[in-house]
Amino acid sequence: MKRRSIILGCGSYLPDNIVTNDMLAERVDTSDEWITSRSGIRQRHIAPPEQLTSDLALKASERALEHAGVDASEIDILIVATTTPDRTFPATATKVQTKLGMTNGAAFDIQAVCSGFIYALSVGDNFIKAEQADTVVVVGAETFSRILDWEDRGTCVLFGDGAGAVVLQNANEDDLEIEVGDTGHNRGRGILSTHLHSNGATNDLLYVDGGPSSTGTVGHVRMNGKEVFRHAVNNLASIVDETLEANGLCTDDIDWLVPHQANKRILDSTAKKLGLSPDRVVVTVDRHANTSAASIPLALDEAVKDGRIKRGDLVLMEAMGGGLTWGSGLVRW
Ligand code: ACO
Repeated sequence: MKRRSIILGCGSYLPDNIVTNDMLAERVDTSDEWITSRSGIRQRHIAPPEQLTSDLALKASERALEHAGVDASEIDILIVATTTPDRTFPATATKVQTKLGMTNGAAFDIQAVCSGFIYALSVGDNFIKAEQADTVVVVGAETFSRILDWEDRGTCVLFGDGAGAVVLQNANEDDLEIEVGDTGHNRGRGILSTHLHSNGATNDLLYVDGGPSSTGTVGHVRMNGKEVFRHAVNNLASIVDETLEANGLCTDDIDWLVPHQANKRILDSTAKKLGLSPDRVVVTVDRHANTSAASIPLALDEAVKDGRIKRGDLVLMEAMGGGLTWGSGLVRW
């Protein structure tokens, strides 16, 4: 039987501390009106200094494992997508591995900025398809607040901290035979395809002006907002088209779009370009802001736990981030 990854469970975690736009306006020359109208963001969660990316990743992973009914000892591969690792090395994933009590396999990080979760999902899915793993935990976790320049009002208002995780497992035969409503497209549950792209020629549109090999410092986020916006709308519409075409589907077949939560205007423009009704788009950017690699699993978890995403639904995830990198994952839930 051909192998297929299903998402058995999901979980997420947000730091307790909420910073509203009005609170930000006390320390930065900005306003709630400017931030809300330009980005749709109303607030963000910010981790205290003692709470590290690995701490957020650990909590999200524990919740995902509990939801999936899987024990940490069953995990073969743990992947953490992050741009804000605890340390330059070792991989944040190895810290999470030990704290989870994972006794087998391997743990490593993936860096594709805001597309990190999609990249990690694709890698995890391929480990399962290649028979190198049966159970994979994929995490997106960030303390993005640590790499923001709080003097740069064009960037610091847009991001937040958080983590989300999913548990992938090789499907059993029952998972491949399910009722999927009236779309007539029954290829069973699980990850139907993933698609990845990058274009290093656009590095300078969104980057951090530091790093171990260049400056020896951590650096801060720098962004050409207008250009990033333009690329985001084009790349995201094209990755959705590519994914649907690869699966012989059309926009109407999608039950839920779970996009990377960068900016409400990007979400609206992408949905409009695709002719997708806004009520089929999961939106958390208003409350979480942009949590980079964590945003998709955070949004996914919310929509699964509040009952919007149900067994058999067709869920499309897509993201774009620094690199530029972009990608998608199509899942029958
Ligand atoms: N508060 C008040 N004024 C501000 C702020 C702020 N926080 N930030 C910038 N401004 C001012 C600027 O200084 C400028 O003033 P000026 O005209 O006097 O020079 C004015 O607002 C307009 O600035 P622009 O940068 O032109 O504003 P724009 O309308 O392009 O909106 C934004 C900026 C929101 C960043 C937009 O370009 C955008 O959404 N880009 C996408 C970026 C994004 O989402 N990146 C996330 C990472 S990538 C990803 O995840 C896909």
